[in-house]
Amino acid sequence: MSHQSPTITLHMVSSLDGFIARKNGDVSWMQSTDHYEKGTTLTEEQITTFLQSVDCYVMGSRTYEHALELGWPYGNTPVIVLTNRDLPNKRGTVEFYSGTLQRLLSERLKPHFRNVWVVGGSRLTKDFLQQNLADEIVLSIMPVILGDGLPFFDHIGTERQLHLKDSTAYKDGMVELRYTVQQETSKH
Ligand SMILES: NC(=O)c1ccc[n+]([C@@H]2O[C@H](COP(=O)([O-])OP(=O)(O)OC[C@H]3O[C@@H](n4cnc5c(N)ncnc54)[C@H](OP(=O)(O)O)[C@@H]3O)[C@@H](O)[C@H]2O)c1
Repeated sequence: MSHQSPTITLHMVSSLDGFIARKNGDVSWMQSTDHYEKGTTLTEEQITTFLQSVDCYVMGSRTYEHALELGWPYGNTPVIVLTNRDLPNKRGTVEFYSGTLQRLLSERLKPHFRNVWVVGGSRLTKDFLQQNLADEIVLSIMPVILGDGLPFFDHIGTERQLHLKDSTAYKDGMVELRYTVQQETSKH
C-alpha cells in the first residue's frame, strides 16, 4: 500500500503534425519504415525494465476497444478503463471506472500505484492536462505527416510550462521527448 500520489505520465505516439490516429482510428502509421543511422534501439532487457516499472495503465474506452482488436500490448499489468458504458471485460487485469479524475486519483490510483501511465486517447489526455493532474508527458513522434486525424493537443485551453527531461532518437526515425509538466500558469 502506498500513500503518496503516484507519478502520472501521459504517453502518446504522434505524427509530426500532432495526430494520434487517422480519422477512422487507424494507427498503422506507427510502424515506421524509416531508418536513422545515428539512432538507438532498446535492448530486450531495457524494454523489460521499462515494462516492469509501470504499475498501472489508464485509458479511455475507445483506446481499450482498439487495443483489444489490435492485440493487447499491456501484458498482465493492471489497466483502468474509463467508461460510462457497461463494457464486456475481456481481460482479468482490467477494471472499469466512471467518475471524476480527482476521485480516480484519490480512491483507485493513490492507494495502490506509484507509476501510472495514461495512454490515451485524445479526450482523456486532454482531461488530465486541463485538470492539472499530469506530472510528465512522453511524446513519441513518428516520421510522418498525416494531414488530418485525431489531434493530441486540441485547444486544451490552458497554458503549461514544460521542462525537457530527456530526448532520444531511435533507429526507426521515432523521436521520444520526455517532459515534466510545471504548475499551471494561466487559463484562457
Ligand atoms: N497514438 C497514440 O498514442 C494513441 C493512444 C491511444 C489511443 N489512440 C487512438 O485514439 C483513438 C481513441 O481516442 P479517443 O480520444 O477517441 O477516445 P478515448 O479517450 O480512448 O476514449 C474516450 C471515452 O473514454 C470514456 N471516458 C473518458 N473520460 C471518462 C470519465 N471521466 N468517466 C467515464 N468515462 C470516460 C468515455 O467512454 P464511453 O463512451 O464508453 O462512456 C469516452 O467516450 C483510437 O483510434 C486509438 O487507437 C492512439
